Amino acid sequence: AAGDAAKGEKVAKKCVACHTFDEGGKNKVGPNLWGIVGRTAGTHEGYKYSESYVSLGEGGMTWTEENIAAYVPDPKGFIQEKTGDPKAKSKMTFKLTKDEDIADVIAYLATLK
Ligand code: HEM
Repeated sequence: AAGDAAKGEKVAKKCVACHTFDEGGKNKVGPNLWGIVGRTAGTHEGYKYSESYVSLGEGGMTWTEENIAAYVPDPKGFIQEKTGDPKAKSKMTFKLTKDEDIADVIAYLATLK
């Protein structure tokens, strides 16, 4: 089901410990997420990603809504599956697991452009 962006903005409070959402916002523990829907993985300027994110981006992976939905409940598992490397690392240890929250936060992220 399509998410609710207004609810998603509230869900995104769980992300702000590590991410900013405004255009040109700073990188924190994680990269700025303005324009994340459609962005190539591992490419936000000035942020030092794990190698696995950079290689996925070099392979052409973009953060489609579908990829974000598969990523946020299990970032490390998603990265390991996509790279095919069972030892691939992710610095994002937070997991957002409720289906409704995931749909809502993606609807919110899609407005950031
Ligand atoms: C990376 C989303 C919460 C830490 C990312 C990326 C996305 C994302 C899409 C990939 C960015 C890119 O390739 O440019 C989210 C969402 C969150 C959330 C939607 C909330 C629901 C958090 C939290 C933390 C965190 C709470 C810290 C405790 C990180 C880190 C990376 C990252 C460190 C970079 C991973 C690496 O290079 O290994 N996040 N995140 N995130 N996130 Fe999050």
